[in-house]
Amino acid sequence: MTTDRILIFDTTLRDGEQSPGCSMNLEEKLRVAAQLEALGVDIIEAGFAIASEGDFEAVEAVARQAERAIVASLARANRADIERAAQALKPARRPRIHTFIATSPLHMKVKLGKSPEEVLEAIRESVTFARNLVEDVEWSAEDATRSEPDFLARAIETAIRAGASTINLPDTVGYATPETYGALFRDMLNRVPNADKAIFSTHCHNDLGLAVANTLAAVMAGARQVESTVNGIGERAGNAAVEEIAMALRVRHDVLPFRTGIVTTEITRASRLVSAVTGMQVQPNKAIVGANAFAHESGIHQDGMLKDAATYEIMTPESVGQAQSSLVLGKHSGRAAFRDKLAQLGYSLADNEFADAFRRFKDLADAKKQVFDEDIIALVDDEVLRGHDRIQVSEVEVYCGSTGQARAILTLSVDGEEKMAAAKGTGPVDALFKAVRAIVPHPEAHLLRYEVAAVTAGTDAQAEVSVVLGEAGRTARGVGAHTDTLVASARAYVNALNKLLVKRGRSALAA
Ligand code: KIV
Ligand code: ZN
Repeated sequence: MTTDRILIFDTTLRDGEQSPGCSMNLEEKLRVAAQLEALGVDIIEAGFAIASEGDFEAVEAVARQAERAIVASLARANRADIERAAQALKPARRPRIHTFIATSPLHMKVKLGKSPEEVLEAIRESVTFARNLVEDVEWSAEDATRSEPDFLARAIETAIRAGASTINLPDTVGYATPETYGALFRDMLNRVPNADKAIFSTHCHNDLGLAVANTLAAVMAGARQVESTVNGIGERAGNAAVEEIAMALRVRHDVLPFRTGIVTTEITRASRLVSAVTGMQVQPNKAIVGANAFAHESGIHQDGMLKDAATYEIMTPESVGQAQSSLVLGKHSGRAAFRDKLAQLGYSLADNEFADAFRRFKDLADAKKQVFDEDIIALVDDEVLRGHDRIQVSEVEVYCGSTGQARAILTLSVDGEEKMAAAKGTGPVDALFKAVRAIVPHPEAHLLRYEVAAVTAGTDAQAEVSVVLGEAGRTARGVGAHTDTLVASARAYVNALNKLLVKRGRSALAA
């Protein structure tokens, strides 16, 4: 394999969405998919078509929307899965079926109850069947890093002979180290007789914090596709983060001489969007996209930075699409200036969305002296993302303090009908959430997490609240932003509830 071009296979919408509370609705998935194309990924894994009606619709809609990227759907090694994937991918200009089966002794025995020979037969059948439906078939050896090398080599050879043009070797449980993962690729590329007929791909989970290091080691060893997610979201400790891989390849081109199609200036926008739609906040010290990734606190560092930014910065914030936090519009700013700012930040809103966002911007500018880019991003994400929720927060009134019990009076719009309830609680948040329960009963659901973060510095900052609700094994995460933390809390809770009701089915709203 001589090319230095690394294909980026993004699985934010499939493996990323599998992480607890990270589910996205159709509209959110389409927004993320559009941003992934702007980011320059080569392949978008849009979902697991057979998993649910919602997954099927999402794969189909992303397939219809994608202009340039290949769109993939996951499928186990059986006809029903593969047929469903092919059906969902019908509208795609460039469809890919991604089929997988486990190859480690443990998985084959315990999970599949199949002998190695039966697994080889399943690979032959499934890949052949998929190739009869689409040209582009990727095959994955689940738990590749704990598979017997001799058997893995036979499995890969079988998949390539049956028509797979991409071979993915996932570190499903995040067990590999850079040395062992690199060696695995070197070994398989050397010993599989038809290895030159396929592109080898990495897929690393981050259980030991090594996902990106393992990915890069495999690239050095000959892999030419990497599977990753925005912000590294994914099962358990997550997947390899696309922004870290892309920037490592760019900043350390001297020792990692490879290219990707990633438009690095779109990284921050992609990160913020995924964080907003999933409600999964990015840790402040996260590489590339964390709030502190380009912050210099100590005097010595600040002094060095003022003399020459290269003293403490190996890449510029601008190179990953982070504009300097700038003071922007004030309460006298008009529609044209606001529209201009939105365009600079990469938003293009429909007329009704723009009108709502502008109204909220005016309220914010009245409440807050300084309106920063981050405020506008939080506000627009909050407004646009909840636009299709069937339950919306209309009014919030809260009474609380050091004396007496906290009380909340809440008005929600439920399918367009205004409904009001009052409730008491141990504190204002408890009272508010009880009022939501009084209007839309959901006795089986529990609050699993409640987090508040300030969007910018200052006591007048907007609060960004994230709420996770759990019910019968399902989880849903909601977000809300407002200068009033309690209004943001109500919005976040109701956003999570909307997602939970979508997951559970619509009948609950009849209660
Ligand atoms: O981690 C894994 O093994 C996967 C496969 C389904 C590709 O996500
Ligand atoms: Zn995975």
